Amino acid sequence: MLDNLFAMLENLFAIFNDFFFIGLPYISILLLFGGTLYRLFFGFKGTFRKMDRTARGDFLWTTRSTGFFGRASIGPAALCLHWGIITLFVTHLVGVVGGVLSLIAWVDFFRWVGMFGGILLLFGLVWAFVRRIVIPQIKAMSKAEDYIVLIFLILIAFFGLYQSAIKLVFGVTYSVAPWLWSVVKLQPDPSLMQAVPLVNKLHIVVALLLFAYFPFTKLVHAFTYPLTYFWRPFISMRKYTGLKR
Ligand code: HEM
Repeated sequence: MLDNLFAMLENLFAIFNDFFFIGLPYISILLLFGGTLYRLFFGFKGTFRKMDRTARGDFLWTTRSTGFFGRASIGPAALCLHWGIITLFVTHLVGVVGGVLSLIAWVDFFRWVGMFGGILLLFGLVWAFVRRIVIPQIKAMSKAEDYIVLIFLILIAFFGLYQSAIKLVFGVTYSVAPWLWSVVKLQPDPSLMQAVPLVNKLHIVVALLLFAYFPFTKLVHAFTYPLTYFWRPFISMRKYTGLKR
C-alpha cells in the first residue's frame, strides 16, 4: 500500500518535474512577497483595514494569541517552535551557500545545527497542536487556518528530518542548493532536482506550497515591523505561579 503510494508520487514527480521545480517556485515567491505586500496595504477583508504598518494597527494582522489560556503550555510550544524556525532559517542559508560553493564545513553545519533546530521545531509544533485540541478555550477560538499551518510545518519538519535524522543520509544539499541558486538567478535548472530522493522533493514542494499560502494566514506576523515593540504598550503576562494564588 505504502509502496504503491511512493511509486505513484515518484511518477508524479517524474511527469511534473518542470512544474514543481520551475513553475511552483516562482508562483510561491510571487505570492509570498506580492500577496504579503497586497495584504499589507489593501487587506483581504476590506472594511476593517487601516493603512497602518504596525504591530497593532490592523486587528486582522494578528496571530490571534492563545497565551491567555493554557499559559503553562504556551512556553514550550512558542519558544521551541520559534527558536527552531530561526535556527533553521539561518542553517538553510548557510547550507545554500555551502552547497553552491561546495564548502563541506558549511554543509556539515547545516546538517548538525539544522538537525537540532528541526527537533526543537517539531517538539514545539507537537505541543502547539496538542494544546489546541486539548484546551477547550483554545479549541473554541481556533480556525481551520490554525490547524492547517501547523500541519504544513509538521510535514515540512518531518520530511526534512526523515532523511537526516532517521535515514541518516545527508548531502542532497549539493544538488538542491545549485537548483535554488539557478531559480534565484532566473535561469532555473530542474534537471538538478531529478535525482533527488522523493522525501527531499516532498520537503521542498510542501515548503513551497506553504510559502504560497503564507500571505493569507497569521504567519504574516513574521514580517511585522519589529521596531514597534520598543514603544508599544506593555502586554501583561504574569507568572503562572502567581495565577494559582
Ligand atoms: C523551499 C524551501 C526549502 C528548501 C529548498 C529546503 C531544503 C532542505 C534541504 C536540502 C535539506 C537537507 C536535507 C538532507 O540532506 O537530508 C533540508 C533539511 C531540513 N529542512 Fe528544509 N528546505 C526548505 C524549507 C524548509 C522549511 C520552511 C522548514 C521548516 C520550517 C524546513 C525544515 C527543515 C528541517 C527540519 C531539515 C532537517 C535539518 C537537518 O537535519 O539538518 N525546511 N531542507
